[in-house]
Amino acid sequence: MDYRVRDVEQGDLDEIQAIEEESFLCPFSKKQFLQLYLNYGKTFFVAEKGKEIVGYIIGVKGFRKIIIASIAVKENYRRKGIATKLANHFIEKIRDKIKVVELQVRVSNKKAILFYEGMGFIYKSILNSYYPDGEDAVLYYKYL
Ligand SMILES: CC(C)(COP(=O)(O)OP(=O)(O)OC[C@H]1O[C@@H](n2cnc3c(N)ncnc32)[C@H](O)[C@@H]1OP(=O)(O)O)[C@@H](O)C(=O)NCCC(=O)NCCS
Repeated sequence: MDYRVRDVEQGDLDEIQAIEEESFLCPFSKKQFLQLYLNYGKTFFVAEKGKEIVGYIIGVKGFRKIIIASIAVKENYRRKGIATKLANHFIEKIRDKIKVVELQVRVSNKKAILFYEGMGFIYKSILNSYYPDGEDAVLYYKYL
């Protein structure tokens, strides 16, 4: 199948929100997505198949690093290499300016942990009770 990765557009936000809702226990709200789009639109990318948004990745710039605030792929399109394509595109776009990418992932999210480790992310530490429901996060990083 043919997937294309491109810069996000404001009109994509409803479809992105729907993917976020099916993917996370504590999803970003519509208002938060609009803020992410307005503030970090240059590091926010979508994967599409035809006119359908099938995944996205959002990077939030910090001091000398960028944090992956969210990455998700529509449930019935997973295990087709879409997140890999999104992450590689993201890295190519930022690597001239940014040297470290970080992210937090729930300790229970084994599939995401396998994905990140496969992408070369390195374990840094555990963040105790990081999530609103009390679950710990694992902090990962990757030097570009
Ligand atoms: C994690 C997620 C983004 C991966 O997206 P994807 O498009 O399915 O990932 P890819 O197809 O690019 O997978 C690349 C590799 O990651 C690993 N991987 C991905 N999903 C996996 C799973 N369910 N089980 C085991 N390994 C998995 C595999 O090594 C895979 O390579 P392979 O298919 O050749 O074995 C997707 O499962 C998702 O949207 N999950 C819900 C949201 C989420 O948890 N996001 C991360 C938050 S920190």
